[in-house]
Amino acid sequence: MRVLVIGNGGREHCLAWKIAQSPRLKKLYCTPGNPGISSVADCVDIASEDTESLCNFARKEKIDLTVVGPEGPLVAGLVDRFQANGLRAFGPTKRAALLEGSKVFSKNLMRKYGIPTAEFRVFSELVPARRYIESINGPVVVKVDGLAGGKGSFVCKNTGEALKAVEEIMEERAFGPAGERVVVEEYMEGEEVSVLALTDGKTIVPLEPVQDHKALYGGDKGPNTGGMGAYSPVPLFNAGLASRVEKEILVPTVHAMKREGRSYKGVLYVGLMVTAIGPRVLEYNVRFGDPETQPLLMRLDGDLLDLLLATVEDRLEEAEFSWDARAALCVVMTSAGYPGNYEKGKEIKGFETLSGREDLMVFHAGTTLKQKKVVTAGGRVLGVTALGKDLQEAQKKAYEAAGKISFDGAYYRRDIGWRALRGVGSRENKEYRIQ
Ligand code: AMP
Ligand code: GLY
Repeated sequence: MRVLVIGNGGREHCLAWKIAQSPRLKKLYCTPGNPGISSVADCVDIASEDTESLCNFARKEKIDLTVVGPEGPLVAGLVDRFQANGLRAFGPTKRAALLEGSKVFSKNLMRKYGIPTAEFRVFSELVPARRYIESINGPVVVKVDGLAGGKGSFVCKNTGEALKAVEEIMEERAFGPAGERVVVEEYMEGEEVSVLALTDGKTIVPLEPVQDHKALYGGDKGPNTGGMGAYSPVPLFNAGLASRVEKEILVPTVHAMKREGRSYKGVLYVGLMVTAIGPRVLEYNVRFGDPETQPLLMRLDGDLLDLLLATVEDRLEEAEFSWDARAALCVVMTSAGYPGNYEKGKEIKGFETLSGREDLMVFHAGTTLKQKKVVTAGGRVLGVTALGKDLQEAQKKAYEAAGKISFDGAYYRRDIGWRALRGVGSRENKEYRIQ
């Protein structure tokens, strides 16, 4: 098979690395890719947003399956365009990708179909939004409707912060048209878990749960980022919780999308808050998570290409795979200043010594080649991911490896996995366990 992966982040390096292990693979391309991806795929410099050039490339190269990494091309209708040209692409159509493309759409869908989520109101004008926030007088979460690269949600501790957020969105128009409508929602207390499921629209195959650390600083403090690290399995996610998530969230969501004439196919990523009353949806994404994909696929025992094909060909019920019993943990190394402004072009040293290990992968994200040297080119630079007999060992190995890598201004959190590991020994983390 001839396969194309679209994107250039850590997620895409991981997808390409796993697809490259499939015995069915003949040729792998990635657009635009990065230096890490170039060790398993031919990288071709076409932007992820350039649907027309991507489609022409796939036709010319007779690509059998295209796997789309980021949400932008999906929401813009890449899959529809490929299908119209007789090409197979993994991911939802434009109509179905609205689940991530519009928070207003997804919140209204959940309300209509009784899918558990935070209570909310939608506003398209500043004055009523302010009035509503003032009437609540407590923490709320303000979200822009459209895509905002992970920066469009404001968790506001008090009325003042919430008023500032709606003003930034609706008055200063900091998010442009994506902020024409805002969702103001109830603040939920709990533990966040990412559940990704493959679905062909009739069968749903939940993958192992992953926990992502979105905040910049240790203890999950500071501004939100795209994700500073992730791990799997998630100890709090027991069989009872898994079954509730499937019954109360995954099945009704896929069903609701069908009922709305927006049949969903691809990977459905549900960001969950596990609260004292059960799992509730924070958000939907219509693609693989980054960095969730890195620990998840390190643990996948099976042929990813087969699974993706089964999804596209509506025969997911035939899917066969299992999970490595070991734990996986990914530490994201970032450029100083991320998620704000940061410098690029810093030489990265030390990762050559880490290659060739079965239990360790250094996935490239924001990297590029400059005079044959690998240098930084983005905010999130590398995802150092290790397998260990348990989370503690995976964490130890990932940090040992990260310690061997250096570049000017390198920053990473030192506590990825703490939520799961704090319970080790004391067994205190039973707070959100669902029986
Ligand atoms: P979202 O863009 O909807 O995924 O939100 C980004 C992050 O904000 C989530 O991962 C949570 O950490 C936090 N968040 C979003 N909605 C809520 C909520 N209703 N209550 C508490 N935290 C939230
Ligand atoms: N790690 C969060 C995301 O992929 O949206």
